[in-house]
Amino acid sequence: ARAPAAPELPSGTLASLKEEARHCTRCDLHCMATQTVFGDGPEEATVMVVGEQPGDQEDLAGKPFVGPAGQMFNDVLREAGFDRRSLYVTNAVKHFKYEARGKRRIHQKPNMGEIQQCRWWLSREMELVKPKLVVAMGATAYFALTGEKQKLSDVRSKPMPMEGGRTLYVTVHPSYLLRLPDGEQKAAELLRFTRDIESVQSLA
Ligand code: URA
Repeated sequence: ARAPAAPELPSGTLASLKEEARHCTRCDLHCMATQTVFGDGPEEATVMVVGEQPGDQEDLAGKPFVGPAGQMFNDVLREAGFDRRSLYVTNAVKHFKYEARGKRRIHQKPNMGEIQQCRWWLSREMELVKPKLVVAMGATAYFALTGEKQKLSDVRSKPMPMEGGRTLYVTVHPSYLLRLPDGEQKAAELLRFTRDIESVQSLA
């Protein structure tokens, strides 16, 4: 039996864009992923946070940043006194990319082509949400937003002007912190990331 047609959504809204993205075949990643993981948050958000791509848990849940990196992000937001519900949270690439190893699905970085194809969705999200401040978490998000490859340390922690009169703020990806071994460096990096998120809050 055919799936029932989706109810008509008013076009030109975030809801209709999200519905359209469910059927995206702009790159091959949709073949293996469970579903498109579109951005999440209020259409009137003044801050848009951009990550890399959904991981295993996001792929299953259909929402961004709900797995370990999301928990870490939530902890830092809480520490900084920031309400995640006020943010529009999305990813540069909207499908999980992985390599199957037995029952495990090992995360793979998206390639240039996949990022380029998916930029179309990110641009539409930007047009509709119209954030004042855009936060790039990691180099993939930075590349997707600017088309430039940069060492993160050269662009991190300073507000920069971007098109449309918006401000771009770059920080590390929470997964970077998760990969660091426990110890002084991890504690220092965590503190630095927390300071970055506090700066985001003061700019918002
Ligand atoms: N990492 C990301 O970049 N995005 C997610 O949604 C989850 C993990």
